[in-house]
Amino acid sequence: MPTTPKGSLTVTLDGTNRTTTLPLLGGTIGPEVADIRRLYSDLGVFTYDIGYGGTAATESRITYIDGDEGILLYRGYPIEQLAENSNFLEVSYLLLYGELPNAAQMAEFTHGVTNHTMLHEQIRRFFEGFRRDAHPMAVMCGVVGALSAFYHENLDTSDPRQREIAAFRLIAKVPTIAAWAYKYRVGQPLMYPRNDLGYAENFLYMLNAVPTEPWKSNPVLSKAMDLIMILHADHEQNASTSTVRLIGSTGANPYAAVAGGIAALWGPAHGGANEAVLKMLAEIGTPENIPDFIAQVKDKGSHTKLMGFGHRVYKNFDPRAKIMKETCHAVLAELGIKNDPTLAMAMEMERIALEDDYFVSRKLYPNVDFYSGIILKAMGIPTEMFTVLFAVARTVGWVSQWKEMIEDPAQRIGRPRQIYTGEAPRDYAPLDTRG
Ligand code: CMC
Repeated sequence: MPTTPKGSLTVTLDGTNRTTTLPLLGGTIGPEVADIRRLYSDLGVFTYDIGYGGTAATESRITYIDGDEGILLYRGYPIEQLAENSNFLEVSYLLLYGELPNAAQMAEFTHGVTNHTMLHEQIRRFFEGFRRDAHPMAVMCGVVGALSAFYHENLDTSDPRQREIAAFRLIAKVPTIAAWAYKYRVGQPLMYPRNDLGYAENFLYMLNAVPTEPWKSNPVLSKAMDLIMILHADHEQNASTSTVRLIGSTGANPYAAVAGGIAALWGPAHGGANEAVLKMLAEIGTPENIPDFIAQVKDKGSHTKLMGFGHRVYKNFDPRAKIMKETCHAVLAELGIKNDPTLAMAMEMERIALEDDYFVSRKLYPNVDFYSGIILKAMGIPTEMFTVLFAVARTVGWVSQWKEMIEDPAQRIGRPRQIYTGEAPRDYAPLDTRG
């Protein structure tokens, strides 16, 4: 559905008679948006919006968030329904193509993705170039970016079929790269993908199996991993997705664009938060220390953040965090983990924070990362792999958004403006005249 005109907004430059009327646009749902594209040509002024908190950079049909109501929709379907009834590959199809697949489409898509899970053998050799103690996100950035060296010369992104194959390759290969980054780090043999396993199950296999022992799939863990992947699959124009779009807008290779997305995701303010939550809980140590830590967070001079809390868009609750918390309890119960001290700390932290005016007045609630780390830890996933897992799941979102951008006739290169606050023009002075 294209945007619809919703009236207009008249802007007048104070103290002058210069005025312009900007169209107001509406999407399917959500607030009206002032189309400011003519503002500079009409009035000679730009808009200023650090962090783009009030700026839409694109139209998109993929994901909708209502931050006040705590609503997240993928292609119109509530995340709660998808989490309960769907699976990650079906959600991937939905994000990429816009509709849920029928049985034949699902079978064809599954075949398309599983056919691309292997990496070129030359890529295997890349891993040996990294230090063993390199963070797996650094390895992810490097190796996913390196895919562009294998699929570049003949890649014509104006061809829909080639775009589709690039999407299949990325969705299929990223779990293999992620698992190998981990195996290399711990010095174990790299496990080749098994196409007879489900997507999440194969990822767990490549992470946990060793060639010397039979590997037994645990359906509860595979299901939990699949659910975590659904919850992380897309989140509209967040920092990493906007990075992928910005890189892609130049016509760059999509594998290189996704490597840029991985780099953006790594930061602790974004996907790196799940790892940071566990580190924070470990540093706090015991529940008695929580009040002191909260006091530190509230002290502006300390620059300490309560990791896993707050969100640019959600100002009520993060619906993913709600599902994640329920799953966390279910997974721990299934694994027979009773009285998990990390979960107990997290729940106490949540309770204290949600009663504290600092967090209440700023509308800071637990986000998806607050509980995901605890589940992943219980599942035996090493802490440094948490953000990597987020990257594996988000790859389909990045690719869907990249594809949508390429297919949008209104697409232009992304190029923000600035307010220049440097020196006014001045003349060069020769070295021997400078004091
Ligand atoms: N702990 C303490 N204070 C906070 C926090 C926090 N986690 N988050 C925001 N605030 C304060 C912030 O200092 C500011 O206070 P004041 O108005 O007094 O200056 C106020 O709340 C508004 O925050 P903001 O910095 O304007 O919010 P933002 O939209 O720029 O940042 C955020 C959003 C997610 C980066 C931030 O909340 C944060 O750093 N949270 C911790 C990291 C985290 O959990 N990130 C994961 C986000 S969800 C998954 C993902 O996107 O990958």
